[in-house]
Order: sequence, then C-alpha cells, then structure tokens
Amino acid sequence: AIHPVILCGGSGTRLWPVSRKACPKPFLPLVSDETLFEQAVRRVAGDDRFAAPMVVAGAAHADLILAQLGDTPGARLVIEPAAKNTAPAIALAAALLPEDAVMLVCPSDHHIADSAAFRAAALAAAALAREDYLVSFGIAADRPETGYGYLRRGEPLAGGFAIREFVEKPDLARAEAYLASGDYSWNGGIFAFRAGHLLAELAAHRPEMAQLVRDAVARGKDDGARFHPAAEPFAAIDGDSIDYAVMENTVRAAMVPASMGWSDIGNWAALGEALAGEADAAGNVVRGSADLAQCSGVFAMSDGPRISAVGLTDVCIIVSGGEVLVTTRDGAQAVGKLPGAVNQ
Ligand code: GDD
Ligand code: MG
Repeated sequence: AIHPVILCGGSGTRLWPVSRKACPKPFLPLVSDETLFEQAVRRVAGDDRFAAPMVVAGAAHADLILAQLGDTPGARLVIEPAAKNTAPAIALAAALLPEDAVMLVCPSDHHIADSAAFRAAALAAAALAREDYLVSFGIAADRPETGYGYLRRGEPLAGGFAIREFVEKPDLARAEAYLASGDYSWNGGIFAFRAGHLLAELAAHRPEMAQLVRDAVARGKDDGARFHPAAEPFAAIDGDSIDYAVMENTVRAAMVPASMGWSDIGNWAALGEALAGEADAAGNVVRGSADLAQCSGVFAMSDGPRISAVGLTDVCIIVSGGEVLVTTRDGAQAVGKLPGAVNQ
C-alpha cells in the first residue's frame, strides 16, 4: 500500500483574518463544509491501496488534528519539536516507515476538486517511486507564478516524465520564460518516494540534516498514538524545504502530470476562484450576508455583519472575528504583510 504523509505547518497569513495562528488554513472549512485537512485525509481514506495516514505537525495543532481525524483508523501523529520546514518533516516520516514503503507526501492546505484523478496520479507516481524516482505531481502552469516550483519535462517514463530541471520559486523573468517555453509544469508540492530512497538522497545532499533527523527519531518517544522526536537534535537542524534540499539536487526526479482541479488557495483571490462554481452571473461569490449592487468579480465573505457594496470590480471583502479586510484581487498576495496579519 501507499503510505500517505500529511504535512501541517505554515501559518497561512495571506488568508488573514479568517486564518489565525490558533486555527490556520488547513483546519478551516474554506471551500466546503470540510476543512482542507479533513479533505486531505478523506482523499486517501477507505481505499485499501492506501495505508492509514501519518500526520506531521507541531504540538500547537495536535488537538485540532486529533479532533479533525475523528475516527480515522490507524492514523499516526508525529509531533515536531520545532518548525524546520518540509525537508525535516518529511524525513521524520520516512525514518519511521519501512525502507521500502512508498510514501505519498500530501500538503494539508491545498484544494483538489477531482479526488479520483488525484488517486490515479498517486498510483502512477507510486509505480515510479518503486523504481527509485523522487516523484512530484506536475500541474499545468497557466501564469508566471513565482511562489511555486517549476519542473522541466524530460524523457517520457511510464505514467510520467523524467524531470530535467527543478527550479524552486524562480524570479518573475524566469517564470515568464518557463511559461512561454511550454516545457515546464508547476510543482504541486505532492510527492511520492520510497522512504529509504528519500533518506539516502537527503544524506547525500544535506548530510547534517539527515543525521540530526536520524538522531531525533532514534531518541524519540512513542506514546501509542503520538510519536515525539527528541527535541535537542531536531532543534539543531538548519531548516529547509524538500524542494531546495533534495528536489533541486537529485538526478532521479520524475513527475506525473496531474489534472485534478488543484489550487493551493494561496490568497483570497485564489479562494474566490476555487469557488467560481457558486458565482452569480457577474462573477460575484458571496459567503454569509452580503448585498452587492453593480459589482463584478467580487468575493464577499462575512461571519456576521452584513456587507453592502456598490460598483466594485475584482475586490475581496472579508469580515471575520471583528476584523475587516478589503483588497483588490491583485493585492491579495500582499495581505500577509499587513500589521493585522503579522501581529495576530
Ligand atoms: N509539518 C510541517 N512542518 N509541515 C510544514 C512545515 C513544517 O515545518 N512547513 C511547511 N509545511 C507544510 C505546509 O503546511 C504545506 O502544507 C506544505 O508543507 C508546503 O509548505 P509551504 O510553506 O506552503 O510551501 P510553499 O507553498 O512555499 O511551496 C511548496 O508548495 C508549492 C505548491 O503549493 C513547494 O513545494 C513549491 O515547489 C510548490 O510549487
Ligand atoms: Mg504553500
């Protein structure tokens, strides 16, 4: 079976004021009645091709996670002693799995509209992972987004392609060139690899990190439902993402194209787009109480007070927890830098 590893970290400040430190983006019901985390769990639940999920997260969110896991059978929780980005988090999970287990790394803050397409891509990725490829889910790029990784497709492989070049978060000029070339996909941030292979690659490219993770696991404590890696070696890790630490450096990168209605809901404009199916004829999306007149492309969401707006185009208005946020769609990416989001 494929072993899902669900990552919960990051703060999601660009979705302030709804996303707060105590309850960040993965644990909010943003797109449907289910939270993004619950959706990530459900995508791989009740299907015997997938083992029970392992969740890697900080202690601050353990209670939220246990509550949202509900009665998911066999789920395991790994509590990071410190947030060190995705490479150490993934390596912890790899060190706790059998060497030959194929792990499927799933971020918990994405929306995927088509779960069946996701599972089909996971099976194709797992087959390549068994042949010792580090496999990324490739998403068709449609804008020069600089917040993503870019994958340059190489020779065809069964179910996918070798990756000739993996470039994490290029600058705008390079992102535009990659988009224009047609040879690149976005990295969806979902990965499949054999646990032992990932650890060997980490040991090759980040030997100190690999050693500290091994120490943290060897000296860790298991209390049944939760695994606690030892804090001291883990705290000494120089944190980095899997993209920079491993994927940019490996010669065994591959990708499976995944057309599954993927969005990382990176900001309010992206959430508005993910909810486009609910839009009125003028492209307005409303959650909660709002009256919009002569508006188009407006996303209005309130947890209480009525929003009234006239004559606006391509604007997001978010009312939550006593805070009011108003931004253009283009400005939505900068919300995380506002004092309210920074000092929450
Ligand atoms: N457990 C744990 N610990 N999870 C973490 C940590 C950590 O320290 N840091 C991040 N995560 C989780 C986040 O919650 C998210 O689910 C996932 O790992 C990816 O982290 P982000 O911080 O959101 O990464 P990113 O968006 O900048 O970039 C990644 O995702 C893009 C697609 O959304 C990269 O993989 C890019 O290449 C990719 O395009
Ligand atoms: Mg992200």
